[in-house]
Amino acid sequence: LVVILDFGGQYNQLIARRVRECNVYCEIKPYTTPLEEIKALHPKGIIFTGGPNSVFDMSSPHYTKEILEIGVPILGICYGCQLIAWMGDGEVKTAPVSEYGKIELQVTDPASALFRDVPETSIVWMSHTDYIATPPEGYQIVGKTNDCPCAAMQNTEKKIYAVQFHPEVTHSEYGKQILRNFLYEVCACSGDWVMDNFIENTVAALREKIGDKKVILGLSGGVDSSVAAGLLSRAVGKQLTCVFVDQGLMRKDEGDFVEQTFTTMFDMNFVRVNCGELFMSKLKGVTDPEEKRKIIGTEFYKVFWNEIRGQAEDGFFAQGTIYPDRIESGKGKSDGKANTAVIKTHHNMAKMPDDIQFLGVIEPLGDLFKDEVREVGEKLGIPHELVWRQPFPGPGLGVRIIGEITAEKVKILQEADWVLRDEMSKNGYESQLSQFFCVLPGVNTVGVMGDHRTYDNLVAIRAVTTDDFMTADWAKIPYDILAKVSNRITNEVEHINRVVYDITSKPPGTVEWE
Ligand code: XMP
Repeated sequence: LVVILDFGGQYNQLIARRVRECNVYCEIKPYTTPLEEIKALHPKGIIFTGGPNSVFDMSSPHYTKEILEIGVPILGICYGCQLIAWMGDGEVKTAPVSEYGKIELQVTDPASALFRDVPETSIVWMSHTDYIATPPEGYQIVGKTNDCPCAAMQNTEKKIYAVQFHPEVTHSEYGKQILRNFLYEVCACSGDWVMDNFIENTVAALREKIGDKKVILGLSGGVDSSVAAGLLSRAVGKQLTCVFVDQGLMRKDEGDFVEQTFTTMFDMNFVRVNCGELFMSKLKGVTDPEEKRKIIGTEFYKVFWNEIRGQAEDGFFAQGTIYPDRIESGKGKSDGKANTAVIKTHHNMAKMPDDIQFLGVIEPLGDLFKDEVREVGEKLGIPHELVWRQPFPGPGLGVRIIGEITAEKVKILQEADWVLRDEMSKNGYESQLSQFFCVLPGVNTVGVMGDHRTYDNLVAIRAVTTDDFMTADWAKIPYDILAKVSNRITNEVEHINRVVYDITSKPPGTVEWE
C-alpha cells in the first residue's frame, strides 16, 4: 500500500490512478489523517500531493515533521515538495512570476533513482509560484529548469524525494516513469496489484463476510452496479438477489437486455419490477424539470424500498459505490451500518428508511477507479455493452423529453435514439464519444413529405466528448454520418420530420437539456 496524502491539489485522483497503473495499490488520505493512523497502515511509500496554497500561510494544510522520520519513503509533488523543504528548514520563496505549462526539465544527477530511464532533458508540467531556493540540509538538487533552481531534490539516506513538477499529468513526458521509479526503485513495491488478484481476493472476502446470509443489490444496468452484481454472483450465487426497477424511461430494449444478461449469464435471483405505468401516471401534467426529477427519484425509491422491505433481516445490502464516489463525498468507506449509508445516486441522495434494517452494507468496488471497475467487468465476462455503457441519468429519458412526459413521446424518443446508437456503432464512432443521445424538445415544425405538408416533432442530437463531465465539448461527428442519422430518423421514426444537431459546449450548456 502507498498512501497519497492529500493537500488539496487538483490532480490528486490522477496521482492515485497513475500509481494504480503501475500495479501498486494506493489510497488517498486527507492531510488531517493522524500520523499514527498512517503508520498503522504500514505503507511502503507516501506521496504528498500538490495543493493550491502557500506553505508560508499558517492556515494552509501542513503536517507534522515527524512523518519525515518514520523511515517510510516519501515523494513530494509541487506543494508537497515545498512542504518537505519547509519542514526541513530549507528556503522556500515566492517567485515574481509563476512557472506554468510545459517546461524543460534538466536532470542534474542522472544517477538519481528517480530518473532511471529518464533522459537528461525532457518536458514536464509545471504550475507553481513558490519555489525552493535552498533545499534543507541533507538534500541534493537532482533536477532544475531555467527558472526553477530546484525542480527535483532527494535525500537518499531518508529516502525522501521531491519534485516541483507534476509527474502525474500526461504532459510530463516521463512522468509515469518517474512515479514508477519512486514506487519500484525507492519503495521496493512489487507491482502485484492486478485485477485478477482483486477478483480472487474480493470474492474470498465477500464469501467470508456474507457467510450463509442473503445479499440484496439495486441493479440499474449501469457499469458499477453491473460489475458489483457480477462479483457478488461469483462469490455467493443464489444468495444474491438483484432488484432492477424499470421505470419505463430506459433506452429502447435496454431493460430486456439487462434482464437477459443477468438471468442467463450469472447465477443469482433477478427481480425486475416494471413500473412504467405508475411513473407515467405520477408524471402526468408535470412540466418543470426539477419537479420531474423529484417525482422520478421519489417514486423510484418508494418502489425499491417496497420491494426489498421484509427481505432485510438477516441479509446485507450491497451497492456499486466506487472510489471516486467516496472521495468526492468525503465519506471514506461506509461504516457498514445500513442506516447510516447514503445510497449512491448521481444527483439525488436517498437515505434508507428506518424500518429497513440490514445487517450491513457491502461495497465491493469501493476501492476501485472507473477504469479498474471496467477491467474487472471484462474479466468477469459482463458484456462489453454494459461494461462500456455511457453514463445514463437516473431519471432516464425523463430529462430528455422537454415538458410533459407521455408514453407516446417516450416511444418516439426511444426509436430515434436507437437509430443514432445504431449508426454510431456501425461507423465505429461510439468509442470516440463520451456520451450521445437524442432529445425530444416537444417542438413541432412544418415539413413536407411527398406532396403532404407535415407538422410534427423535432428531435435533437446531443453528442459530447469530455474527461470528467464537468466541462464538455460538442462532438465533431463527420457530416456524412450525421446526414445518415438524420435521413434514417426521419424515414424510420414516425412523427419526426426534422433533426437538429446541438453545437453547444458545456459551459454554457449542460450535457442534458433538462
Ligand atoms: P449535465 O447535464 O449536468 O450532466 O451536464 C453531466 C452528467 O451527469 C448526467 N446527469 C445525471 N445523472 N441523474 C443522474 O444520475 C441526473 O439527474 C442527471 N442529470 C445529468 C448526465 O447524463 C451527464 O453524464
